[in-house]
Amino acid sequence: MITDPWPARSGPLLLRHPGPGELDDLHALRNDPAANRFMLRTSVDAPEFRREWLEVPGSDTDFSCVAELDGALVAMGFLDVVDGMGQPGMPPRTEGVLGYIVDPKHWGRGIGSALARGLLDAAFGPLGLRRVTASCNADNPASVRILEGLGMRREQHGVQDSWHADLGWIDGYQYAVLRSEWDRPHAADH
Ligand SMILES: CC(C)(COP(=O)(O)OP(=O)(O)OC[C@H]1O[C@@H](n2cnc3c(N)ncnc32)[C@H](O)[C@@H]1OP(=O)(O)O)[C@@H](O)C(=O)NCCC(=O)NCCS
Repeated sequence: MITDPWPARSGPLLLRHPGPGELDDLHALRNDPAANRFMLRTSVDAPEFRREWLEVPGSDTDFSCVAELDGALVAMGFLDVVDGMGQPGMPPRTEGVLGYIVDPKHWGRGIGSALARGLLDAAFGPLGLRRVTASCNADNPASVRILEGLGMRREQHGVQDSWHADLGWIDGYQYAVLRSEWDRPHAADH
C-alpha cells in the first residue's frame, strides 16, 4: 500500500495535486523559455503533459506535485521512485529522483528551497525511500544552492555529459542524500 504524500505543507508552501483546470497554466510554466534554459527536456506537448499529470494521483512511481503560495500556483516539483543498480535480490523501489521548476515571476523568494525540502520530506517520510538523487546543469547556481543547502552531496561532476540546444555540450552535477543523513538533526532543522 503506497501512501499518497500530498497534500503536505513545506514552510509557506502547500504541496498538492493540481486540479484539471490548472494544467494549462502549468504547461505554460513547463514550456517557459526562462525556465527551460536549465532543463534538458525543453518543450513538452500539451496532451502528453496533461495525461502525465492526471495519472499522478493513481501512480505508484510518480509523486510529482504543485506548490501553492498564498492561493497562487508558483511551482511544480517532480519526484519519481526508481530502482537503483544492483544484483538479483536487490530491494525494489528504494530510490527517488527529484526536480523542480519555479515560476520565474517568483524566483529568489525561497520557493525552490522550500519545495525541494518538501519533496525530500515526502521521499523519506511517507514514501520510505532510502536514497534520493537530483541532477542539475553545472551553470545553474540557484539549483546548486538549493541542493547543497539541503545537505545533498555532489557525487558526480559529468564533464560535458549533457547536450544544451543553445550552448552545446555542458557539464552536469548529480547530488544525492540518504535517509540516514536526512534524519540527522542538522539536516532536519526545518
Ligand atoms: C532553480 C530554481 C528552482 C530556484 O528557485 P528559487 O525559488 O528562485 O530558489 P530560492 O529562492 O529557494 O533560492 C535558492 C538559493 O539560490 C540562490 N540563488 C537564486 N538565484 C541565484 C542566481 N542567479 N545565482 C546564484 N544564486 C542564486 C538564492 O540566493 C538561494 O541561496 P541561499 O539559500 O543561500 O539563500 C529556479 O530558478 C528555477 O525554476 N529555474 C528553472 C528550472 C530549474 O533550473 N530547475 C532545476 C533543474 S535541476
